[in-house]
Amino acid sequence: MSETQTIAVEFKHVMKSFGTKRILNDVSFHIDQGQALCLLGRSGTGKSVTLKLVMALMRPDSGEVCVDQDNVVGMDEKHLSLVRRKMGYLFQDAALFDSLTLYENLALPLSRLTRKSKDEIEDVVHRTLTDVGLGADGAKFPSALSGGMRKRAGLARALVLEPKILLADEPSSGLDRITAAEIDELLMRQKAERGTALIIVTHDVRGARRVADRVAVLDKGNLVAFGSVDEVSRSENEVARKLITE
Ligand SMILES: Nc1ncnc2c1ncn2[C@@H]1O[C@H](COP(=O)(O)OP(=O)(O)OP(=O)(O)O)[C@@H](O)[C@H]1O
Ligand SMILES: [Mg+2]
Repeated sequence: MSETQTIAVEFKHVMKSFGTKRILNDVSFHIDQGQALCLLGRSGTGKSVTLKLVMALMRPDSGEVCVDQDNVVGMDEKHLSLVRRKMGYLFQDAALFDSLTLYENLALPLSRLTRKSKDEIEDVVHRTLTDVGLGADGAKFPSALSGGMRKRAGLARALVLEPKILLADEPSSGLDRITAAEIDELLMRQKAERGTALIIVTHDVRGARRVADRVAVLDKGNLVAFGSVDEVSRSENEVARKLITE
């Protein structure tokens, strides 16, 4: 561990309910810049909600959510948009604009949010699409892409602004093993080459074992285990232990 290690994302005693239903109960954890956290847990345990809290698309009922050391809870829109610029978000359903080509889907955030010239944008989009194996598909519309291609396109869009922190909601779900492994490779390369912090929601334990520096397990609103893959596989919590060793 270097002394320059900084915290990328931190939850401090986060509570979140919808109506009377408690979704997150006093959740605290942190992840350092350049580390990968895999977030595991059964369906409906609050994994996607956790990512949305990081992006400040939702607000916790109490507690703090810190991104790059700044608490985003209660932050005004002007500062929030600066903090969000540090993050890329691959939504669970890829969330591409269906009326735009793949190229345009990636060029849009660059032309809106940066001062890059048309040529520079073209370079970045082409490079990013090539990185995810879609270099020849820029002219296609999302409807013409297979499930695996959509995932990779969503990932390309999350990466196009070169975020310090990447949030990926089930980046490899519904994909065959080989394509899923390719996505994992891409995520690990992102971390190794750019020092990106990754928070990856996944049901793919095999992938998590490969990618994760830290594993977090959510169950019924509680963070029941947090640590390295080895630590979680020796956890006192049965749900966590079973999940990671399955
Ligand atoms: N905007 C919302 N309004 C009300 N309830 C919500 C909202 N978003 C999520 N929930 C509820 O919060 C709970 C957790 O949802 P979340 O999407 O985080 O689950 P998840 O762990 O990502 O599940 P999955 O593995 O199926 O994607 C669910 O019961 C869901 O119905
Ligand atoms: Mg989800």
